[in-house]
Amino acid sequence: MTTAPIIFHSVAAMRATIAQWRRGGDTLGLVPTMGALHAGHVSLIAIARQRALRCIVTIFVNPAQFAPGEDLSKYPRTLAADLEKVAAAGADAVFAPLAPEMYPAGFCTSVALQGPAAAGLEDRFRPAHFGGVATVVTKLLTQALPDIAVFGEKDFQQLCVVRQLVRDLDMPVYIIGAPTLREADGLAMSSRNVNLTPDERRSAPALNRAMQAAATRIVEGEPPAAALDLAQAEIAAAGLALDYLELRDATTLAPMPELSSKPCRLLVAARLGQVRLIDNIDVKRGRRGP
Ligand code: PAF
Repeated sequence: MTTAPIIFHSVAAMRATIAQWRRGGDTLGLVPTMGALHAGHVSLIAIARQRALRCIVTIFVNPAQFAPGEDLSKYPRTLAADLEKVAAAGADAVFAPLAPEMYPAGFCTSVALQGPAAAGLEDRFRPAHFGGVATVVTKLLTQALPDIAVFGEKDFQQLCVVRQLVRDLDMPVYIIGAPTLREADGLAMSSRNVNLTPDERRSAPALNRAMQAAATRIVEGEPPAAALDLAQAEIAAAGLALDYLELRDATTLAPMPELSSKPCRLLVAARLGQVRLIDNIDVKRGRRGP
């Protein structure tokens, strides 16, 4: 039997309950999401529940991280189904604010970023994106003051940006990166996958396949540039329009022309019809999952 999570729409209501939990000595885990929850999100909730006594899932499609013309209006909104998934996953509460609660009239503060946010990956194609992410994540972390917060490795640049943000602004929260969940054919789970046509869905796993093959070749000693060239050709042959495929330092996201002793990551983004797919893998682990 599942217990329905408490639903908060206001910061004040959420804080009142958190204060009560804190008085009882409970720790708190936060799972920030934009809803349209899938098994990947459920795995984030499971991690939060293992690491803290209480778990709040936030559901807010943050307009500040979408540029005009991006897919804000098409972003799937499935609150009723999301609440069922949160209940089944055993989270205590959902924070689902409306936009004016997060961005009231007169709101004019944002967080300025450099470092991983300016690595020339997603930021090259979505220049305002990480500013919006950092602003809303700063707000969510300040509103709930959790002990831990869980973010998926699927959005790897976002995870690096959040870690840097928390470090630089001395936020007292531990950020946990959760492994990407994949469909049986290797496609990384994403709320946007529902927007793929059946034909596109069949082509989409080529992205992960090419990346896996490139990682194997690099680990076996092939120069990264040659391995990435071949992967680019494979991605193009599958009908995807590549935005980038890059080997990067896994912490700073600085380019890595050669494999070194540091942890490194292959990151990819490509467009398939109306959908933009992103993915990444830990090169040295040399296996399909991260
Ligand atoms: O990864 C997401 O779903 C969003 O970028 C986040 C972290 C919830 C901020 O809106």
